[in-house]
Amino acid sequence: MESLSLALDTIKTELMNALKTASSPEELEKVRVSFIGRQGKIADLMSSLKTLPVEQKRKFGPRLNALKNFAEKAYEEKKQAFEQKAADQEKEQQKYFDVTAYKPTELRSTLHVYTEIIQDLEDIFISMGYSIANGPEVETDFYNFEALNIPSDHPARDMHDTFWINDTQLLRPHTTNVKIHKMKDEPGPLAVASVGRVFRSESTDASHDFMFTQYEGIFVGKNISLANLIATLESFFQHFFKHDTIAIRVRPGYFPFVEPGLEIDASCPFCSDGCAVCKHTGWIELLGAGLVHPNVLKYCNINAEQYTGFAFGGGVERLAGIKYGINDVRLFHSTKIAFLDQF
Ligand code: DAH
Repeated sequence: MESLSLALDTIKTELMNALKTASSPEELEKVRVSFIGRQGKIADLMSSLKTLPVEQKRKFGPRLNALKNFAEKAYEEKKQAFEQKAADQEKEQQKYFDVTAYKPTELRSTLHVYTEIIQDLEDIFISMGYSIANGPEVETDFYNFEALNIPSDHPARDMHDTFWINDTQLLRPHTTNVKIHKMKDEPGPLAVASVGRVFRSESTDASHDFMFTQYEGIFVGKNISLANLIATLESFFQHFFKHDTIAIRVRPGYFPFVEPGLEIDASCPFCSDGCAVCKHTGWIELLGAGLVHPNVLKYCNINAEQYTGFAFGGGVERLAGIKYGINDVRLFHSTKIAFLDQF
């Protein structure tokens, strides 16, 4: 039994050395696990003691218990020493803690004003009973032109400054393509709105960009008339500009996919007798609209005898620019904090 006696002494010496060299609470924890832990060295000795005859147990049992108590006490003392050291350090640091120190204002993230405007527009359309649709940005000639009553030799193709990808595919220059997709999917009645990016081969300045955003609406049903279109747009602008008496002014306009085609102006939401926004006219030009051309209905297999519809579409940046007084469309795609901070 010499070996057990030796093992007790060796463990005690090892333990003392390990405690002495442990230089952090993490290292101390390792020492605890390897000596006092449930599968540690002392626990191992305890289980080998169980196999010994009774007189050996009597001899070594108390020594082993004493070693265990010693180990626990020594560990506890070292642990407290570490805790005390940490508390002292914190106290020391607090001496240098200046509650009056300058702290720069926190920069909080918010949605980009452009995202908010798009969500706003979609919410208004939804509240008016429209469903929201998204069409492809890479479009075919058919959906972008042919089905919109703009055959390949039609001069109206020039209005769009299209980026062609190949002979039949292009980057859509307007969101009017969405109408064709929806009307081909559903034979009518339908009320669909869409907000999305469009692309035009233009040089950029404060009022033009090669990429901008359009909103678009289509309403197909029985006996739909211009009166329905005007009432819808009045209500839409009243919601958007948060103003309850916006009137609509209608001028003739030409878009091959509507007949009659209209240019729509809204009464200025900011003044009653002329201001800089409406260039002292009391009216602001906002969008194009009209009654869906029977050819377009036919292309989409909608019975033009039974159904009529109105359509409208315009630029989001223009609408938002008027509402928030932003006079450079390029700012909508900007990451300038000074600009974004205003919203
Ligand atoms: N697509 C036209 C443009 O980009 C805008 C437009 C005009 C859309 C009349 C329509 C509409 O739906 O009926 O200028």
